[in-house]
Amino acid sequence: MGSHLASRLARDHEVAALTHAALDITDRDAVRRTVNAVGPQVVFNCAVFQVDESEQDPAKAQAVNADGPRYLAEAANEIGAEIVQFSTQYVFAGTPVGRAPYTIEDDLKPVNVYGSTKVAGEQAVRDTCAQSYIVRTSWVYGSGKASFLCNAHTELKAGKRVRAIDDIWSSTTYVEDLIDRCLEIIGRRHYAIYQVVNAGVCTYHEFALEAGRLVGLSYEQLDSLIEITHEREMKRIAARPRYTPLRCLVSEKVGLPPLRDWRNALAAYAEEELE
Ligand SMILES: NC(=O)c1ccc[n+]([C@@H]2O[C@H](COP(=O)([O-])OP(=O)(O)OC[C@H]3O[C@@H](n4cnc5c(N)ncnc54)[C@H](OP(=O)(O)O)[C@@H]3O)[C@@H](O)[C@H]2O)c1
Repeated sequence: MGSHLASRLARDHEVAALTHAALDITDRDAVRRTVNAVGPQVVFNCAVFQVDESEQDPAKAQAVNADGPRYLAEAANEIGAEIVQFSTQYVFAGTPVGRAPYTIEDDLKPVNVYGSTKVAGEQAVRDTCAQSYIVRTSWVYGSGKASFLCNAHTELKAGKRVRAIDDIWSSTTYVEDLIDRCLEIIGRRHYAIYQVVNAGVCTYHEFALEAGRLVGLSYEQLDSLIEITHEREMKRIAARPRYTPLRCLVSEKVGLPPLRDWRNALAAYAEEELE
């Protein structure tokens, strides 16, 4: 997300795109020094300690996902800057399957360490910076990353077999749509918690089927290339919430329409990638 955001912003703005090597957000003094030196109008925090890693190292998860965001928010607040803190559908419990999409009015009940520390990060940013946007998103994909969602279409097109979980559902988000919406949000200066995702909900299996269809494979071909699996068979370290579609009440309130349907967004991504 950080690299996509940096290249998009660089079209119209001066951007200091700091990698982990350039700034460790868990180093409070370094954060303050850097934010003062750069003097940004907006700080975007895309740093994160990931889901299974957080379960294995909760102290580091707390440091990267909660303390670091607080240091950035403090530093931004001191110079009158805004901050955008990215968060996740993993703040929610994900049950029951089939429930209405989650909104900001729903209770936060994370089922893993990652989710708990992301909740703490949201709260820390809101408590610390007067001008903060929290942007929760879900199952983000785009070019340049090795992940199931990012690569399903190219793997299938190349005739490779993929394993796809069919008992976890969420909203998906094309990173370019996410960035477009973030820029619209910032333009309105309405500080709040946003939930930015493409419309609709799917499983990884449904996502793979659609990705394969978009690259011209038949259902028979997809049947043989996609191996259906279940969350418990993946033996992942951290528990995952099962059903987490999101809906953005604040966007609705400020007149921003829902993002396009996930199938249309995936089609745009596949087309861009295969050009
Ligand atoms: N991707 C998704 O599906 C998804 C879904 C929901 C929400 N989000 C949210 O979106 C945001 C961005 O996620 P992403 O998918 O772009 O994550 P990502 O691909 O894992 O990138 C995270 C980046 O954070 C860096 N980082 C880790 N610890 C750091 C530290 N202490 N200081 C500075 N940088 C550090 C990592 O650098 P190293 O690799 O060098 O450590 C990496 O470049 C996160 O807030 C995440 O919670 C993502």
